[in-house]
Amino acid sequence: HLSFENFKKNPSVNYDLMKELGLMYTDKDFIRKVIIRIGPKGYVLHEKFKSAAANVYNMEVRSSDVFVASFPRSGTTWTQDMVWLIMSDLDYERALNIPLTERYAFFEFFSSFDDGIKMKLLDANKDDEAKLKEIKLIFKPATEILETTPSPRFIKTHLPLSLMPRKALEAKIVYVARDPRDAIVSLYHLVNSMRFMNLEHDFKAFWNTFVKNLQPWTPYFDHVKEAWEKRDHPNMLFLFYEDMRKDLPSVVRRISDFFGKKYNEEEIARLCDHLSFDNFKKNTSVNFDLIKELGFMYADKDFIRKGKSGGWRDYFDEEMTAEADKWIEENLRDTDLRFPSMQ
Ligand code: A3P
Repeated sequence: HLSFENFKKNPSVNYDLMKELGLMYTDKDFIRKVIIRIGPKGYVLHEKFKSAAANVYNMEVRSSDVFVASFPRSGTTWTQDMVWLIMSDLDYERALNIPLTERYAFFEFFSSFDDGIKMKLLDANKDDEAKLKEIKLIFKPATEILETTPSPRFIKTHLPLSLMPRKALEAKIVYVARDPRDAIVSLYHLVNSMRFMNLEHDFKAFWNTFVKNLQPWTPYFDHVKEAWEKRDHPNMLFLFYEDMRKDLPSVVRRISDFFGKKYNEEEIARLCDHLSFDNFKKNTSVNFDLIKELGFMYADKDFIRKGKSGGWRDYFDEEMTAEADKWIEENLRDTDLRFPSMQ
């Protein structure tokens, strides 16, 4: 009776009455979500991940698997499409026609949302077979999807290395990191774009929960450092978002070398054009317009948002800037990890 799932749907305690009275938005919940902390670093994840953690960790890895991993909002989508095209002999036709969400299985997506959200989405789209199919697919555990996926399998994850399949480095991992101040601004916008998340109107409050390691997938620096420590492993490629923005062709060459692919200058130029911010923003295979159509994201928001570095300065006041400097300094003290934007 007192379990989270039962409490959430029990109208005697879940405050749905407040919604009926018009005090609360109907797509918000009083009994919201339960987060858990996993492992020695205490990574924050949705409670539902408990049911997936062992399946992910013990997953059978194929040497041909390709993982794209990152802390959220670090340029994952950009990296995913780049990696996929490089691996797929620059097959633009498929890249433009098969949504990235179908080309990659996303480990922890299905466990990031309550069942109630899935139900609401299914209900809102109940007359549209294609959308129902898509919703069922994105809520299906990735490990189940992967069992029958032909090689090479492409996998997206925001899990840190220690929570990924323990044999992941027997396959190939591309990890992308971004200045945390830009990533957090970007995450703040994303949270405010999603229909079923609690809106965070105050960026300062959001930032405070981030540095206190209360946001999903934090602690941020442990996440990045775990990958950085493996950067010289032959199956790990560590990238920075800032380098992709500064010199995309050289990042394309690094990824091509990593996967043993060779492309000429003309092919690289075409790929960089395909990956340019303006083209990416209007590319429906990667821009997540699909999740707007499913009712997950507000129609006037964008997943591919600004695509700049250093935009955080418009959001941080003097006090937050000083706090961020101290936080970064403390966390970089025991490592040679340096972000291009901090040199
Ligand atoms: P902003 O919100 O700062 O614009 P992820 O894919 O990990 O969620 O990261 C999203 C961030 O990458 C967003 O940052 C998005 O705009 C940016 N991004 C996506 N595609 C990009 C591209 N082609 N060029 C530059 N930035 C891109």
